[in-house]
Amino acid sequence: MAFRYYTATTLDGYLADDHDSLDWLLTQPLEDGGAMNYDDFFAGIGTAVMGYTTYQWLLDNEMADGKPWPYEIPSFVFTHRTITPVADSITVLDGDPTAHRDLLTEAAAGKDVWVVGGGDLAAQFAEAGMLDDMIVSIAPVTLGSGRPLFPRRYDLALQEFGRNGAFLCARYSLVGARKPLAEV
Ligand SMILES: NC(=O)c1ccc[n+]([C@@H]2O[C@H](COP(=O)([O-])OP(=O)(O)OC[C@H]3O[C@@H](n4cnc5c(N)ncnc54)[C@H](OP(=O)(O)O)[C@@H]3O)[C@@H](O)[C@H]2O)c1
Repeated sequence: MAFRYYTATTLDGYLADDHDSLDWLLTQPLEDGGAMNYDDFFAGIGTAVMGYTTYQWLLDNEMADGKPWPYEIPSFVFTHRTITPVADSITVLDGDPTAHRDLLTEAAAGKDVWVVGGGDLAAQFAEAGMLDDMIVSIAPVTLGSGRPLFPRRYDLALQEFGRNGAFLCARYSLVGARKPLAEV
């Protein structure tokens, strides 16, 4: 099994704008069966992990009009708040991802763990040695500011790339952290 950060991003490296809007993303054309498409990716996923802002975005957007929580697989939300999850399949976690490695691996039941985002949480997984690859669908859009894709200094290795509609898609394995700026 693997820990995989799969996300869309702007060309200048943002997951969402400063107001957590994804309007720049949801208007982009996709192809059925295009490179690194969601359906193929999700078929290999046993559990999903996300930060609180991403969870709240799903509540506000995907669950509008009384729709159910979008995932049947076990889901984990990192937050320091005391919340009552909206579905029985959701577990609330906090702290270092390392402390939850066994729980997440067991929940994935032999499949992969999808690190949904945001970027800082994905970076915490990388620092914990719990991120195998990063799969990004790059939209032809720049925002200038917003929620960062991966706010750390890391070396990655390009493993595959392709096109899906408007998106340039790329899968990178993680090589390792780069030296802090002060040590360069
Ligand atoms: N483009 C895409 O495909 C895509 C993918 C994913 C997300 N998004 C969007 O991108 C934005 C991401 O927001 P974000 O950058 O704020 O990130 P986020 O990871 O969704 O949320 C950050 C919050 O997660 C909690 N958190 C993170 N690490 C934690 C830890 N170790 N222990 C406990 N709590 C922890 C904290 O919540 P508390 O303050 O509650 O403690 C923190 O403020 C959202 O708008 C989301 O909808 C877009």
